[in-house]
Amino acid sequence: MKHLLGLENLSKEEILSFVEEGEKYREWLDGEYAETRKPLSYLKGKRICLLFYEPSTRTRHSFEIAGRLLGAEVSSFSLAVSSVQKGESFKDTLLTLESIGFDLFVIRHSCSGACLYASNVLQKASVVNAGDGMHEHPTQTLLDLLTIYRAKKTIEGLKMAIVGDILHSRVARSAIFALGKFGWELHICAPPTLLPKDIEKLNVKIFHRLEEAIKDVDIIYMLRIQRERQNEQFFPSIEEYTHLYGLTHQHLSLAPGAMVMHPGPVNRGVEMEGKVVDGEGSFILEQVRNGVAIRMAILHSILGEAR
Ligand code: NCD
Repeated sequence: MKHLLGLENLSKEEILSFVEEGEKYREWLDGEYAETRKPLSYLKGKRICLLFYEPSTRTRHSFEIAGRLLGAEVSSFSLAVSSVQKGESFKDTLLTLESIGFDLFVIRHSCSGACLYASNVLQKASVVNAGDGMHEHPTQTLLDLLTIYRAKKTIEGLKMAIVGDILHSRVARSAIFALGKFGWELHICAPPTLLPKDIEKLNVKIFHRLEEAIKDVDIIYMLRIQRERQNEQFFPSIEEYTHLYGLTHQHLSLAPGAMVMHPGPVNRGVEMEGKVVDGEGSFILEQVRNGVAIRMAILHSILGEAR
């Protein structure tokens, strides 16, 4: 695979192989690496550029650590002090950085399709999508699958509720594309204004009441309200949204033993009560840990020789 642009067109086997490789890296991180603190050298001599046009904490730092742990050189592009501020286009920025000698670009951009565009502009370098507008965030879904696989010992036929701003969420789209391939029952829960048109064609069940959506599911997956992508008002107030869609610890009795997940960043007290974020059923920090492992698997599979 030269690029990882999304999960829509990946096969079940390709997705599974990332999860299995991610599991091996997670074991390495917890075992040999935790003891020796010695990085690997599979990507020695390779150069990775983190090209982020939008803010990020988890995704950016876990790609950085993942690349370094594989022995690659990793540089971070800083939008605020780059020539983009002098008017340089996305295309010219890509061609310039490729000429400097990067082998792979990890790209986050506010435009849906920016990663596909970059893969067409670049002559040799690879592209990994770290979130493009409202389109896809494939590495997030892969790390979520690894988290679920480790907890449930399977990623087949589970039942999950995805709750929140589905309309603007690239995380929801990647999840819906991927989980459908594994025969999941997907409950999508949001106010009608925060659902994409024709979403029911994606083989999901639509709910407008949180209590009904989460009843007896294996996983409750909460999403942040993407205020940065909302140029109009989609609901009367944040307080009303929280009242109707915010997850509280009382809700958890409707789905006993369910995993509670969130891609982060969480707006505590908006989509989720702090007590639930920090609670026993919460896998939020486990998702973050698995982010390093899955990104090692992805970078290795694109840039590395056979192990
Ligand atoms: C997500 C994103 O950027 O799409 N964050 C992440 O990568 N973990 C979700 C979000 O910003 O709400």
